[in-house]
Amino acid sequence: MKRVLIIGNSGGIGASLESEYSFRKWNCLGVSRSLHGLDFNEPETIQKTLSSIEGIFETVIIATGALTFNGYGPEKTIRSLTSQGMAEQMQINAIGPALVLSNIARLIPKDCPARIAVLSARVGSIGDNRLGGWISYRASKAALNQVVHTASIEFARSHPQLACFSLHPGTVDTPLTKQFAAGHPSSSASETAPILFNVIENCGAEDSGNFFDQNGLPVPW
Ligand SMILES: NC(=O)c1ccc[n+]([C@@H]2O[C@H](COP(=O)([O-])OP(=O)(O)OC[C@H]3O[C@@H](n4cnc5c(N)ncnc54)[C@H](OP(=O)(O)O)[C@@H]3O)[C@@H](O)[C@H]2O)c1
Repeated sequence: MKRVLIIGNSGGIGASLESEYSFRKWNCLGVSRSLHGLDFNEPETIQKTLSSIEGIFETVIIATGALTFNGYGPEKTIRSLTSQGMAEQMQINAIGPALVLSNIARLIPKDCPARIAVLSARVGSIGDNRLGGWISYRASKAALNQVVHTASIEFARSHPQLACFSLHPGTVDTPLTKQFAAGHPSSSASETAPILFNVIENCGAEDSGNFFDQNGLPVPW
């Protein structure tokens, strides 16, 4: 039975992906902040949590992320930027996933196809940014994309059959988007999960280092 590790299985998309993989008879292991104490604001918990996991996973999904927290929300203008808000956004959306990638190699098979899908966001695309705003969240996802791309180059040497990529999940109704959903077309997490499953599981090593959307199409950096 194939195994999937879902980092952030307490989130809207992470929980739905866990259900989808279980439905498809994968063996699922999920870890998260609220259920297992894996907190990107406490980086020592990352190494501690991952080192307690045994075995090999054909697929790893990093489904964590935050847009609002501790009173900070996405900025409408650069004049609203705060050092603390931007630093926390970077910590949760870029540094946390980077430290997961830094500790993940021993859980990835070297002798068969494997995938690491990291949930990013289209708004992290510099090429696609025509609206402005949300500067800390955008910047943290752009940083995340650079981390994923850079890690993929290194993984290609040690894990030649691995696809490590950034994935925009589409606009999905979850706690993350709740306050911002009005007027925007969106999908439920349960509708989205089988779509993301297909994109993730159809990625091969030739796709490593790229940034895809929920349709499997490339997103400009
Ligand atoms: N929903 C969308 O429309 C949308 C669009 C574009 C991109 N995305 C991306 O998709 C990913 C999942 O989003 P979602 O919509 O499923 O959001 P969500 O329902 O709010 O879930 C967020 C997840 O991130 C975890 N998390 C938050 N802060 C954390 C921290 N400090 N340390 C460790 N884990 C932390 C949460 O853990 P706990 O609940 O256990 O605290 C939860 O598992 C995010 O990267 C988001 O940026 C979502």
